[in-house]
Amino acid sequence: MMLSRNLARLSSFPSCTRSLSSRIISSTSAYLAPSISGNPATSTSPSLSPDQRQVLDSAIRVDQAGEVAANYIYQGQMFILGKDPATRPILQEMWDQEKKHLTVMNLLQVQHGVRPTALWEVAKVAGWGLGAVTALMGKEAAMACTEAVETVIGEHYDDQLKDFDRLPSHPSIDLLKGVVRELRDDELEHLDTAVGQHSQRAPQHALLTAVVEAGCKIAVEVCKRV
Ligand SMILES: [Fe+2]
Ligand SMILES: [Fe+2]
Repeated sequence: MMLSRNLARLSSFPSCTRSLSSRIISSTSAYLAPSISGNPATSTSPSLSPDQRQVLDSAIRVDQAGEVAANYIYQGQMFILGKDPATRPILQEMWDQEKKHLTVMNLLQVQHGVRPTALWEVAKVAGWGLGAVTALMGKEAAMACTEAVETVIGEHYDDQLKDFDRLPSHPSIDLLKGVVRELRDDELEHLDTAVGQHSQRAPQHALLTAVVEAGCKIAVEVCKRV
């Protein structure tokens, strides 16, 4: 089954354990607290070699762009499916988490002095269009879009955690690793939700998945650089 294949590729932890761990210790809450200025983990950035700087810059740039796109995917889906009382709260819950992800990524981008992607407006339009078009194909297709996106983004965050092993020990880097772990777990919960909402009953599910996954992988590589 596609879900079990996806999850096996992503983590050795069962999803219930991942969810539980992210709820017990929330790294994003360090950024969402009323005052973050006195915490070195949220207000300082380490000295880095050029290679390490490249790892950190590309990671935060692509993650911020991805969270922008995710927010617009849900906005597009909500525009089409928001009148359905059964679907609206499911979309809203996932969208609310994406809003939190973007808030934290915006703060990380400023904290570490990273240039945002030059494709910010493209990410917004592409995200909204992807959300709206798949929603027009029906609720199952909208969920198939979420399943495909979160599969790629879950893997992306997992790969990024391995890249972060090249960064020095520093309070801000330790917190960044926690944030990325938490975001990965949230994205995998969205994947579980989408499958639970019958994403795999979408018309042309395999083709839709292949197209969305390929588009996401290209977008990830482009936004690391541009
Ligand atoms: Fe997200
Ligand atoms: Fe997500």
